[in-house]
Amino acid sequence: MRVTFFGPPGSGKGTQAEMISEYYGLEHLSTGVLLREEIRSGSKLGDRIRETVESGRLVGDDIVNREVFQRIEDVEDFLLDGYPRNMAQAQELDRHLEALGRPLSGAVFLQVPDDEVIRRLTGRLVCACADGTRHSSGFSEGDVCPECGTAFVRRIDDSGEVVDNRLRHYHSLTSGLKGYYRGRLLSVDGTGTVEQVFSRLREALRPWA
Ligand code: AP5
Ligand code: MG
Repeated sequence: MRVTFFGPPGSGKGTQAEMISEYYGLEHLSTGVLLREEIRSGSKLGDRIRETVESGRLVGDDIVNREVFQRIEDVEDFLLDGYPRNMAQAQELDRHLEALGRPLSGAVFLQVPDDEVIRRLTGRLVCACADGTRHSSGFSEGDVCPECGTAFVRRIDDSGEVVDNRLRHYHSLTSGLKGYYRGRLLSVDGTGTVEQVFSRLREALRPWA
C-alpha cells in the first residue's frame, strides 16, 4: 500500500500515521518531522525553514519534493503524512511515482472541524520522541517525558496566531486535494477518541492492503 494522509493541522495525521504504519507495515514519512529535524540540525537551510514554519506558511515545493523523493526511492509500501499539501506537490508526486512504476494507492482525508483542531493544537506539548503526538496528555510544560527523558515544550508553530495562519493556508491550498484525489480518496471522520479513529482508518484502508 502507498498512501498519503492529509487534513487540517491537528487532525491527528501524525498520531494515526504512526499507528497505521505499524499495523500495516508501512514506512511512515512525515514532512513536518523531516523539516523539524532540519531546523534542529542548525544548518543554513534549517534556519530558512524555521522562518517559514514559524509563520505558518508552506515550505517551498522544491525542498519538500526533494526530501520525499530521496526517501521513497527504494521503498515499496509507505504512508506519507502531510505531503502533498498543494496541487503542484500532488502532481509532481504522481509523475514521480508513475515513472517508478509504483503509483499511489490513494489518499486519506482526515476530517476534523476547525474549532476542534484549534483546541487540540493550543493544548499540545511535544517532546523528542514520536514528534510528541501520543505521550503528552496529563503533563505540563517543563515536565519530563517518561519515554525519552526530554522536557515537554510547545511546538514552535502552535501559538494562536500561527495556528490561524496554518488553518488559512490549509483551507486555501490543501483542502482542494479532495477534488484532485477523487476516485481514489477515503474520507474518514477524525473526531472521537484516538482508538475510535484508528479503528475507522484500519477498516477503511483494508481494500488497499
Ligand atoms: P506538520 O508537522 O505536518 O503540521 P500540520 O499538518 O500542521 O499538522 P500537525 O502535525 O500539527 O497535526 P497532525 O495532523 O499531525 O495531528 P497530531 O497527530 O500531531 O507541518 C508543520 C509545518 O511544516 C507546516 O505548517 C509547513 O510550514 C511545513 N510543512 C510540512 N509539510 C509540508 C509540505 N508538504 N509542504 C510545505 N510545507 C510543509 O495531533 C495533534 C494533537 O491532537 C496532538 O496533541 C495529539 O495528541 C492530539 N490528538 C490526536 N488525535 C486526537 C483525538 N482523536 N482526540 C483528541 N486529541 C487528539
Ligand atoms: Mg503531524
